[in-house]
Amino acid sequence: MTETADRSDTPASPGSTEPGEPPAAKPLGRAGVLRRLLDLYESPRYLEIGVCEGFTFDRVEATRKVAVDPEFRFDHVAAAKANPGAEYHQVTSDEYFAQIAGAKQRFDVIYLDGLHTFEQTLRDLMNALHHLQPQGVIVIDDTVPPTYHASIPSMERFGRLRAWLGDTNEAWMGDVYKLVWFIDTFCPNLTHRTISNNHGQTVVWRHRRAQVTERSVTEVGSLSFEQMVLEEDVFGLRPFGEVRRELRRDLGI
Ligand SMILES: C[S@@+](CC[C@H](N)C(=O)[O-])C[C@H]1O[C@@H](n2cnc3c(N)ncnc32)[C@H](O)[C@@H]1O
Repeated sequence: MTETADRSDTPASPGSTEPGEPPAAKPLGRAGVLRRLLDLYESPRYLEIGVCEGFTFDRVEATRKVAVDPEFRFDHVAAAKANPGAEYHQVTSDEYFAQIAGAKQRFDVIYLDGLHTFEQTLRDLMNALHHLQPQGVIVIDDTVPPTYHASIPSMERFGRLRAWLGDTNEAWMGDVYKLVWFIDTFCPNLTHRTISNNHGQTVVWRHRRAQVTERSVTEVGSLSFEQMVLEEDVFGLRPFGEVRRELRRDLGI
């Protein structure tokens, strides 16, 4: 239901504009971020986990594009015929990584936007890292839920809470935010930054960090929305331009 509803690239915290102030800058769209990352590679190879209607997939260009979704909301057989550089796999991400992706298959940019639970995105990240070329980049979508109810892992319960509150924002992000804390704690060889000028996407690349904060697996798994807000430094929020410059420097691209 709602997980496909908000693809309008709304910012995580839309600031209000006072009379006389210039209008707020337009938030950066999903495809805009991915295009500017794909631009860094000569013959980019792109993988998108969770494609839905193809709103983002169809707006990015790459030499090789791979789409994975257990339930495409378009005719993927016709799309494959019309786009010889693209592959469409109507399976879950787990099935794709376990049975379809070639052992030596590598991508430059991988976009994780499938099932928005901590456990599934963690598994997607682990699998994606195996298929990421050494100077590649992973983008994890929807890591900054704008409300408590948008952050709960059950989409069905989110829908009921949203109806009760009369909230018109249909964007469900689940508890993917915990993945940022997981990377921060358990993946010292990865650097992560969360884009501050869009709806909240975390960009990850291979670069050893000088410091790691100790937390237990239980602490990360049970991280609450409240803690997420109070510890927002962990996100490493930066405007996308800065994130892109930093990853280029780290990766030498
Ligand atoms: C938020 S939508 C993706 C939107 C798309 N990336 C875009 O930017 O337009 C999430 C998609 O994830 C898919 N999905 C759900 N479970 C999945 C899984 N286990 N593996 C891969 N995709 C999954 C859903 O079918 C849905 O189409």
